[in-house]
Amino acid sequence: MRREKGLKKIEKTFRIPLPEIRKFIRDFHSEMQKGLSGGRGSLKMIHTYVEKPKGTEKGRLLALDLGGTNFRVVALELKGNRKMKAPLIEKFVLKKKHIIGKGKVLFDFIADCIKTFMNKHNMPIGAKQKLGFTFSFPVKKKGIASGALLRWTKGFSASGVEGEDVVKLLNGSLRRKGLSNTKVAALANDTVSTLVARSYEDPNCDVGVILGTGTNACYPEKDRMIINIEWGNFNKLRRTSYDCELDEDSGNTGEQIFEKMVSGMYLGEVARRLAEDLLPKIRFPGGFKSEYISVVESDTSKGLTITNRLLKKLEIRNSKYADRKFLKEACTVVSTRAARLAAAAISSVVTRMDPHLSKRHTVAIDGSVYEKHPHFSNRVKAAIKEIFGRKALRIKLVLTKDASAKGAAIIAAI
Ligand code: GLC
Repeated sequence: MRREKGLKKIEKTFRIPLPEIRKFIRDFHSEMQKGLSGGRGSLKMIHTYVEKPKGTEKGRLLALDLGGTNFRVVALELKGNRKMKAPLIEKFVLKKKHIIGKGKVLFDFIADCIKTFMNKHNMPIGAKQKLGFTFSFPVKKKGIASGALLRWTKGFSASGVEGEDVVKLLNGSLRRKGLSNTKVAALANDTVSTLVARSYEDPNCDVGVILGTGTNACYPEKDRMIINIEWGNFNKLRRTSYDCELDEDSGNTGEQIFEKMVSGMYLGEVARRLAEDLLPKIRFPGGFKSEYISVVESDTSKGLTITNRLLKKLEIRNSKYADRKFLKEACTVVSTRAARLAAAAISSVVTRMDPHLSKRHTVAIDGSVYEKHPHFSNRVKAAIKEIFGRKALRIKLVLTKDASAKGAAIIAAI
C-alpha cells in the first residue's frame, strides 16, 4: 500500500503536463534571446562560422568524431550531387587515461588512431589530407578551424585542454606522429555535423539534435550562420529532489541541468535513485546504467523475467515481482519525462525559426537514447503532436546515424 502511494507521488512529480511544456518553450525562447545578445543566460548560443551546405561539395575526406566513450575515424567521398559514397568507419574505445588523464595523452591517442586507420585502408601516411574534426563539447569558435574548449562536459576532465585551442593541440600530436600533412580544415560540434550531414542530402533539414551520452542542438539563425545552442545547460526547469541530489553529487554541480534530466549519461542514475530503497544492492552511484532502462522497459514478460535476469546480473538474486514492477515504473517515468523535455526543446528551436510553422522542417537526430530506447522516439513524436496538433506534420524527426562524423568532413570540403 505504502509503495503504491509512493509510486503515485513519483509519477506526479515526474509528469510534465502541456501547460508546463508551454512555459518551458517561453523560457527557452527568452534564454535563446539572452544568449544571442551576449547576456548571461544559461544558453551559450555559440556562433559556429558554418552555414548549411549546398549539396555540391565534393572530395575525399577524413573525419574524426570525439565526444563520448568511443572515438571514430571516418573516410568519406562526397560526389557533389547531394550524394555520398558509403563511408569507411573505424571505432576505437577511449580508456580512463584518455578521458581523465593528461590532454596530451588523449590527443596523441587520436593521432595514433588516425595512423592505424590509414594503414588499415592503405592510405598514404605522408600525403596531404584534409580532416574534419567533430569535437562534441562547448567550444568558443574563433573561425572554421579553431576554437577553445570552454569546459569539459560528460565526465571528461583531461588536463591542459580547457581554455586551449583544441585544433592546435591535435596538430601538435599529428606533427609528433609524423602526420604533419594531415590538416584540420574544420572543427565542429556533433550537433552541427549532424545538421550539415543531413542537410547535404535534405535541404529541408534545419535542426541538428543529439540525444545520447549528452544532449544538445543547433540551427541556422536569420543570418544563416549555424548556432550551437549548448542546450544541455538550460536551467529554467522544475527539478525533483532526486535531480537536485544527483546534481549535488556530480562533478559539475549547477551545470548541464537539462542534460542531467535527459541524456544517457544520467538517466540510469536518476532511475537508480528512485529505486534504491527497494533494491539496496544498487545503492552506489553508477550502479544502474541508462541502457538498463531500455532492457527493463522492453520487458513485456508476465513475471518480468528479463528484468529478473538483469537484476541477478547486478547480484540482486531474490527480487520480488512487486519490486521489479516498481523498477519498471521508475524507468518509465524517468524516460518519459526525458522524452517530453526533449520534445519541448525541439519545439522551442523550430518555433524560434518559424513561429507559426509555415514551412516544413526536418530535424536530424543522432544518439543512443533516441536510437536504442524502445519508446523514446515515439514519445518525443507524441509530445510534439500534443504541442502543435495537426501542424506537427510539418516537423519530421529523422534518425541520422553516423552523421556526427560525416558532417565534419562536409564542412572541411566547403
Ligand atoms: C554535451 C556537450 C555538447 C554536445 C552534447 C552532445 O552537452 O557539451 O557540446 O553537443 O554533449 O554530445
